[in-house]
Amino acid sequence: MTATQNFRIAAIPADGVGLEVVEAGRAVLDSLAGSSGGRFTFEWKDFPWGSEYYGEHGKMMADDGLEELKTFDAIYFGAVGWPTVPDHVSLWGLRLKICQGFDQWANVRPVEFLPGIVSPLRKADDTDLNWVVVRENSEGEYAGIGGRNLSARGEGGEVAIQSALFTEVGCERIMRFAFDLARTRAKKKVSSVTKSNAQQYGMVLWDDVFKKVAADYPDIETESVLVDAMAAKFVLHPEELSVVVASNLNADILSDLGSALAGSLGLAASANLNPAKTYPSMFEPVHGSAPDIAGQGICNPVGAIGSAALMLEHFGLHDEAKAVQRAIEQTTGDGIRTREVGGSASTAEVTAAIIERLHS
Ligand SMILES: NC(=O)c1ccc[n+]([C@@H]2O[C@H](COP(=O)([O-])OP(=O)(O)OC[C@H]3O[C@@H](n4cnc5c(N)ncnc54)[C@H](O)[C@@H]3O)[C@@H](O)[C@H]2O)c1
Repeated sequence: MTATQNFRIAAIPADGVGLEVVEAGRAVLDSLAGSSGGRFTFEWKDFPWGSEYYGEHGKMMADDGLEELKTFDAIYFGAVGWPTVPDHVSLWGLRLKICQGFDQWANVRPVEFLPGIVSPLRKADDTDLNWVVVRENSEGEYAGIGGRNLSARGEGGEVAIQSALFTEVGCERIMRFAFDLARTRAKKKVSSVTKSNAQQYGMVLWDDVFKKVAADYPDIETESVLVDAMAAKFVLHPEELSVVVASNLNADILSDLGSALAGSLGLAASANLNPAKTYPSMFEPVHGSAPDIAGQGICNPVGAIGSAALMLEHFGLHDEAKAVQRAIEQTTGDGIRTREVGGSASTAEVTAAIIERLHS
């Protein structure tokens, strides 16, 4: 008999619908472990960090939080942000602190078209469209370099500088990651998103590195597309996409566009990877804390459950990851959907339906 694999997961639901969708994803994973015949188990620890914690402690997470998180196999994250705390404080104080502190430099965001979900695209269905946005997750426009009121001009004359950081190492590693991923996909193509016509330093370096890396992958088709044109391409010619590699901000925007085209922000999964595995990676839905629907039990858990499937892949549980993805597809295909995608099921009903199909 083989030994039981025990995966230690840090759960950080944080704010708003984050609490609801993390609960849903945990239920799916625990049910999988329960039926694994003792092959694997998940050991969870909850962390109460987020905007409420900020209200009590004046900080988004414990001072030694990263030290403690380091000991886990993975982090399962909900969403951070609540109207009581400025968004830049909550984001930098928790999510970005973890992503940057743990060098999770590759953010993988699949755009999946699911059966039973109507896309606003004219020709879309789940049989011919899917692509992955690979987001540079450690520098670029979210490097946090800049300052405010540098010249101290006083009220009405404030100045702010927000710089973007592009390094050859940072560009090269994310591009190699994208090319390696493209080799595993049916359509062997990488599209680089640039803005080198207007941003003549960082984005020209980005383009130069893309050309250099592409030369090492002659089997992969490439293209370089300006971000504005790529936004149009997502809508008009998504069938031409396979792996889309982009800087931090550009990929952030484009992946939301991708999930909206697939039907809802609530469907999109993501993995913040530290490919060297020096630190834990973090898995979270693409969406935010959705204060407009939080606490009502109606948010879509599919993005969070899809992120749990990405975590299973990361653990090497490939068959289980596929089983979760299949159960999601069967559930939406059977018409069990939350309201924002035209259904009437609650978060708990969609979760229960996915678990049921996992075992049927
Ligand atoms: N990764 C993160 O933690 C993250 C990402 C984006 C935004 N945020 C934060 O979340 C807060 C709200 O931001 P926002 O409104 O711009 O983005 P949002 O993603 O929270 O919501 C945008 C829209 O999508 C809907 N939506 C989101 N998730 C859904 C789900 N699971 N099911 C159904 N509908 C869903 C919401 O109801 C809303 O109409 C802000 O504080 C923001 O900073 C956090």
